[in-house]
Amino acid sequence: MHSPDVTAVFELPDEAATQRLGESLAPGLQPGMVIFLEGDLGAGKTTLSRALIRALGHAGPVKSPTYSLVEVYVISSLYLYHFDFYRFESPEEFLDAGFDEYFNDASVCLVEWPERAQGSLPPADLRLRLYHAGVGRVLEAVANTPKGQECLSVLNRAMGAASSSVTPAPR
Ligand SMILES: Nc1ncnc2c1ncn2[C@@H]1O[C@H](COP(=O)(O)OP(=O)(O)OP(=O)(O)O)[C@@H](O)[C@H]1O
Ligand SMILES: [Mg+2]
Repeated sequence: MHSPDVTAVFELPDEAATQRLGESLAPGLQPGMVIFLEGDLGAGKTTLSRALIRALGHAGPVKSPTYSLVEVYVISSLYLYHFDFYRFESPEEFLDAGFDEYFNDASVCLVEWPERAQGSLPPADLRLRLYHAGVGRVLEAVANTPKGQECLSVLNRAMGAASSSVTPAPR
């Protein structure tokens, strides 16, 4: 049975808040998960990813994959792939590059600019969309699968109810 999508909204007034949200995602990750990171240029997608990857235990640098398309991290036995498809001119480039093989039960895939590979990309468990809001940002999270919902529950608990609103009641 299809479970309903679950949505939460987080206010991120400064870079530290984006980093805290990224760190708070780490305990909720499960092998096989796909997370989309959407939002304009400079919205904070890489900042969030970097904090998440460091929180998983990666001590070295976390480069933006803007030029490489993918950065690979092996953390314990988990393969984490951090993609950025901004430079794709068509979604077919995803399959041409063989990236579909990276999406498997043993990996976690973080994808910046997923819309550039739309139609070729597997579906996301969790979609995170960042918006500019004054000098800060707002993040909208939508969980599309049970794994995504579990991860969002972990995130909600870590961020505290004060900063989030889950599926707002109708006005
Ligand atoms: N909540 C926030 N409030 C204010 N500034 C932030 C916030 N989160 C991140 N930033 C800042 O936004 C800038 C751009 O961040 P980042 O490179 O992560 O964006 P991006 O979404 O990955 O961009 P691109 O689409 O180019 O890959 C950084 O200077 C970062 O410090
Ligand atoms: Mg980026």
